[in-house]
Amino acid sequence: MPDIESLLKETRVFKPAPEFARSAYWNRKRVEEMRRLGERNPERFWARMAKEHVSWFTPWHTILKWKPPFAKWFVGGKTNVSYNCLDRHLTGEHAWRRNKAAIVWEGEPGDSRVLTYADLHREVSKFANVLKKLGIRKGDRVAIYMPMVPELAIAMLACTRIGAPHSIVFAGFSAESLRDRINDAGARAVITADGGFRRGGVIKLKQAVDEAVENAPSVEHVVVVRRTENPVDMRPGRDHWWHTLMAEASSQCPPARLDAEHPLFILYTSGTTGKPKGILHTTGGYLTHVTATAKAIFDLREDDTYWCTADIGWVTGHSYIVYGILANGVTTLMYEGAPNHPGLDRFWEIIEKYRVTVFYTAPTAIRTFIRWGEEHPKKHDLSSLRLLGTVGEPINPEAWMWYHRVIGGKRCPIVDTWWQTETGGILITPLPGGVPTKPGSATKAFPGIDAEVYDEDGKPVKPPNGGFLVLRKPWPGMLRGIWGDPKRFREQYWSKYKNTYFTGDGAHRDRDGYFWVMGRVDDVMNVSGHRIGTMEVESALVSHAQVAEAAVVGRPDEITGTAIVAFVTPKGDAEVDDSLRDALRKHVTREIGAIARPAEIRFTDALPKTRSGKIMRRLLRDIASGKESVGDTTTLEDYSVIARLRESEES
Ligand code: PRX
Repeated sequence: MPDIESLLKETRVFKPAPEFARSAYWNRKRVEEMRRLGERNPERFWARMAKEHVSWFTPWHTILKWKPPFAKWFVGGKTNVSYNCLDRHLTGEHAWRRNKAAIVWEGEPGDSRVLTYADLHREVSKFANVLKKLGIRKGDRVAIYMPMVPELAIAMLACTRIGAPHSIVFAGFSAESLRDRINDAGARAVITADGGFRRGGVIKLKQAVDEAVENAPSVEHVVVVRRTENPVDMRPGRDHWWHTLMAEASSQCPPARLDAEHPLFILYTSGTTGKPKGILHTTGGYLTHVTATAKAIFDLREDDTYWCTADIGWVTGHSYIVYGILANGVTTLMYEGAPNHPGLDRFWEIIEKYRVTVFYTAPTAIRTFIRWGEEHPKKHDLSSLRLLGTVGEPINPEAWMWYHRVIGGKRCPIVDTWWQTETGGILITPLPGGVPTKPGSATKAFPGIDAEVYDEDGKPVKPPNGGFLVLRKPWPGMLRGIWGDPKRFREQYWSKYKNTYFTGDGAHRDRDGYFWVMGRVDDVMNVSGHRIGTMEVESALVSHAQVAEAAVVGRPDEITGTAIVAFVTPKGDAEVDDSLRDALRKHVTREIGAIARPAEIRFTDALPKTRSGKIMRRLLRDIASGKESVGDTTTLEDYSVIARLRESEES
């Protein structure tokens, strides 16, 4: 497996600091105890988590029903996610949390809002009543396309309160992408805003919704939050202002008693084909997974101010800004805007302003901060921080060391957390009070998780060899399927190895059993911690009138991890110049969103293909990254193509 070979030789080890370890919620003893239980009996381990961390209206009768690849967790149990995130903090043992900050929100222009648990409970109950009044019933899908404002969290929790699965579409996606996702899920309502602030400008969300809904027959209602005050068209009968509906809504709305397997949300993610897949998560197992992992991995305490910088439009925001954090009764910070507005120190200013204690971000952001220079964090008092986390892509050891030194002041443990949209919650991670860390390694599987690295034949590889990262047992937060496509669900994740989940990542283990995840092994690119399918970008490119054929590959990039390189064969009559490049970039942005915009476009009159007509991506990857191709090219149909491709570099 030449593609999955690791050149990393990292020998630094950081033991948990004794002061941290002593007071950690999971200290070394507890970590060991949980690992033993998780190994001996993963179901019992998860049942214990479900009892400790989730409040149930009705207890389950069966922990797990596993008919590969379909799992049902906590069968017979009834609960409600919004009840766990809100109501249970207002009564009983934790009643004093009523006036504790649930959401501390900072807008990009510098405005801020604090919602206590009682405030959030009231707003969520009211919006749940609004949804009901609009005719949304249990099981109906609601699409959400919003900036990072508290109403986004309110809308999600309101959906969970009545059992209407939400489908959040990241506000950076285009109208086209939004429409595809609305149609795939058959959403009856869309919640949006007049816009959101980003880098000083306004993102016009309502306009994109108008365009999307034009061809989305399932949508009956659009609810619009007023955020930016920029003018929007409101279509009578279909469009409603959030504040108008809320003004009339009652604040009494009992949470629906939902089955543990009731659909909680759909979240679309890129795969190896052109069409994004709707990853389906359900109620009881997901809630157990994210609540228990958030508590143990972020060592959450009553007085923490926790900040995850992800957008709620990605799974990280679902699980570790909203559900996993609020279910623990902790204060979660939400920031609307960009890290460089108005200055390059915005994040550090926010940490100082709110005395953030736990900070969770992406390696790509850390690499950007390194480039901007340490003088920006140095201007601020970051001494409130006690724990740092990363997610989304492998972190290079030097970035890890910078994070540890400059942001963590050498005193904060770093949790490098590996997981996916499909896994619902974190699966491979350090536990900060009990697991020594190594820069660049996500360390070991969380208790109850059976992760392994397999070779092509499904045998565990011996260290230090690389292979494919797999999960051998079901876990409570796992996806329950791909919305409307059980066939793709089987093929994508369960066909490579029998009864074993294939992650699509390459990894190896070292002699201590630590995992080193090396990135995707399929046709999915990880750009700034976001997944983008090469096929999706290709189909966007070929939908342009002047493109005959396109092949898209990733090349390593210092900041974004991967940069998108497109090899494009224009149609015979096309003018091949920079204005076509511009037009294609705009076209991809319109079709998918700015995150999928190719960093480089190379024009070529032919693409390298095998005799059977398959595009040789490996070769293109080598060319894109400026490597001499070492691989086998004997099946290449036309050798001269390679020479011409090498000359096609964008100047
Ligand atoms: O390749 C792995 C990478 O991100 C992929 C999942 O992407 P997504 O579903 O968008 O979810 C991202 C946030 C959970 C994985 O297949 N990845 C995620 N975390 C790590 C990682 N790679 C290495 N180390 C990580 N900590």
